[in-house]
Amino acid sequence: MNPGDKKEKFMETRIVTVVGASGTLGAEIVRALLEKGAQVRAMVRATSDRTKLESLGVTDFVVADLRDPGSLQRAMTAEPRAVAVVASAAGFSAHTARTKGDNSRTDTEGYRNLVDAARNAGMPRVVLISILECDKAPGVPHFSQKFVTEKYLAEKGQPYLALRAGAFLDRARDVVAQRVRKGVFPDIAPGVALDMIYSPDLARYAAAAALDLPASALNQSVDIRCNVPATGPMVAAAFTRVLGRPVVAKPVLPPLFVALFPLAGWLVPRLRDQIKALAWIRKGGYVSHEGNKQRDLFGELPTVEDSVARYCRDKGLI
Ligand SMILES: NC(=O)c1ccc[n+]([C@@H]2O[C@H](COP(=O)([O-])OP(=O)(O)OC[C@H]3O[C@@H](n4cnc5c(N)ncnc54)[C@H](OP(=O)(O)O)[C@@H]3O)[C@@H](O)[C@H]2O)c1
Repeated sequence: MNPGDKKEKFMETRIVTVVGASGTLGAEIVRALLEKGAQVRAMVRATSDRTKLESLGVTDFVVADLRDPGSLQRAMTAEPRAVAVVASAAGFSAHTARTKGDNSRTDTEGYRNLVDAARNAGMPRVVLISILECDKAPGVPHFSQKFVTEKYLAEKGQPYLALRAGAFLDRARDVVAQRVRKGVFPDIAPGVALDMIYSPDLARYAAAAALDLPASALNQSVDIRCNVPATGPMVAAAFTRVLGRPVVAKPVLPPLFVALFPLAGWLVPRLRDQIKALAWIRKGGYVSHEGNKQRDLFGELPTVEDSVARYCRDKGLI
């Protein structure tokens, strides 16, 4: 190899496949990967809306469904080969509920199919977006299924890093920004402290895990959160300081509705998972018990106030 070849090799763009790229976090992960100079291969379904991804400049799309092993095999072996997969897809979410069919299979056999396809393709690493304390929530399907996937990655010998995220500070569909404009922070678990993370920070960590971390950092789960667990009033106080006007925490659901949870779950089956997750979070379990892994891999933990300040800037609140 002559020196010119070596330089060319070094300059080669690394491809990362993003599963769930059309989702809320998925698009943030795509943005973070592009900022690091990677080429993104967006794994989307035939029915996925690609508009946001195209506006970010993505041109490499591969169509596959987690519930279809053959399509995954093609996605994982697409040439030129990807150096990593970041998996953010979710079968339980409101976004995904728009899709017809049995979405519950996505988080169970779908993720199993993905691990099998990645392993068979010799994928160098899989970065799994997992959930904080997922190993301690056997009664919450979406949480416990993440833990099952983590275990399956290890069992199959597929190199991986699981990022166990706390609750997204920003949540889906800008709900928080809309309420904060009216002086209210929507509190999902009144009186309970939770670990939270601003989703663009999680996306940056996922991109770093795909591209930068050495192999010696792989094959573990890492809790991802701000520096302290926060209650709704603590987050509301951070918004108040950042915006310079009062923001108060208010329960996102009226107590009567909470009392009717079991009925709602019985009437609308797709809500059952979310209701179980919310009930579990409200018991105070959504708090990390881990030491310094996040700091060691990704640097100082973001503070709640700094996360709120960046969120306000990004959403045009200041
Ligand atoms: N929200 C939180 O507080 C929180 C906390 C910790 C971890 N997380 C995790 O963060 C991840 C991202 O959440 P999000 O809210 O950004 O998700 P989201 O917006 O609901 O996006 C879900 C994505 O999964 C894709 N998908 C669904 N079923 C699929 C299938 N069968 N095959 C292929 N793709 C499929 C969807 O594609 P289509 O566009 O085609 O539907 C979409 O791109 C989730 O895994 C969630 O567990 C969230």
